Amino acid sequence: MVAAVMTAPDTTSDANARSRLAHTIVIGNEKGGAGKSTVAMHLCIGLLRMGMKVGIMDLDVRQRSLARYLENRARWVRNTGAPLPIPEMVRIDASQARDLDAAEAEEAKHFEDSLRRLSEKCNFIIIDAPGGDTFLSRLAHSSADTLITPLNDSFVDFDLLGDVDPQTLEVARPSFYAELVWECRKLKAQQSRRPIDWIVMRNRMSPLDARNKQRVGEALDNLSRRIGFRISPGLSERVIYRELFPMGLSLLDLTDSGSGVTFTMSHVAARQEIRDLMIVLKLPGLEGKEISF
Ligand SMILES: Nc1ncnc2c1ncn2[C@@H]1O[C@H](COP(=O)(O)OP(=O)(O)OP(=O)(O)O)[C@@H](O)[C@H]1O
Ligand SMILES: [Mg+2]
Repeated sequence: MVAAVMTAPDTTSDANARSRLAHTIVIGNEKGGAGKSTVAMHLCIGLLRMGMKVGIMDLDVRQRSLARYLENRARWVRNTGAPLPIPEMVRIDASQARDLDAAEAEEAKHFEDSLRRLSEKCNFIIIDAPGGDTFLSRLAHSSADTLITPLNDSFVDFDLLGDVDPQTLEVARPSFYAELVWECRKLKAQQSRRPIDWIVMRNRMSPLDARNKQRVGEALDNLSRRIGFRISPGLSERVIYRELFPMGLSLLDLTDSGSGVTFTMSHVAARQEIRDLMIVLKLPGLEGKEISF
């Protein structure tokens, strides 16, 4: 599986072209429903609200959750006149070519062209990867400057990263996905001077199960040392992270959205979780900048 990661010639012109691309943030996890699109939406609005220009690529060509969210947002702005920031978006479709090599070549060209086009206008490009192993997803992973992997806060989802002994919490071996990221890191290092910064983010944390939380935390620490990722504090399970989807809004928009949704203590805590994520990411150009949402 890992052997199929794309290889590219290492030339100076490739490296120069790469260094001109906007900082690319990929949200990836082969498991479905871990929170990739949710993180992509909130990070996008957070960066826009910090005055950044953001480009979006939704590589989940079947569900298109992020693209649908942004369509809802554009409609909300049209219908209400609310002054909400909107990102640039390019649409990537799966190739219809029947020959595999032709299909991959077409998808790779479309992907690279889109990265370049968005880089002309944007500071950051956010790529929402699909919940599965596709050619486009691998391309995205090996283009990442920052890779964020949201992980449901339970041992059920742990095997995405590695085999962990349930008693000792020691790591037996890294997963296919961890090996895929490893291969992408090697490939990226050949192509560009910017290494992939991999951040694993716990998602849907419950305030109730303190013991599970602590054990998952310990196992993650062990894995992070073995596999080489950083850990972000993560997001709790909160209705506000999903209820504004049909309007294309987020909790970061509530003050000027015209939605009539009032700000509660849970929203304040959620906003702090998004801020903490932005701080941990250490994105270029934002160092020392006050978080303005
Ligand atoms: N922190 C959270 N609190 C509450 N609901 C959440 C949270 N994170 C995700 N969800 C909900 O869980 C579901 C799955 O999340 P999401 O669509 O973001 O996952 P995904 O990784 O993009 O899935 P897929 O692999 O299918 O693309 C959605 O209904 C989303 O609203
Ligand atoms: Mg998704």
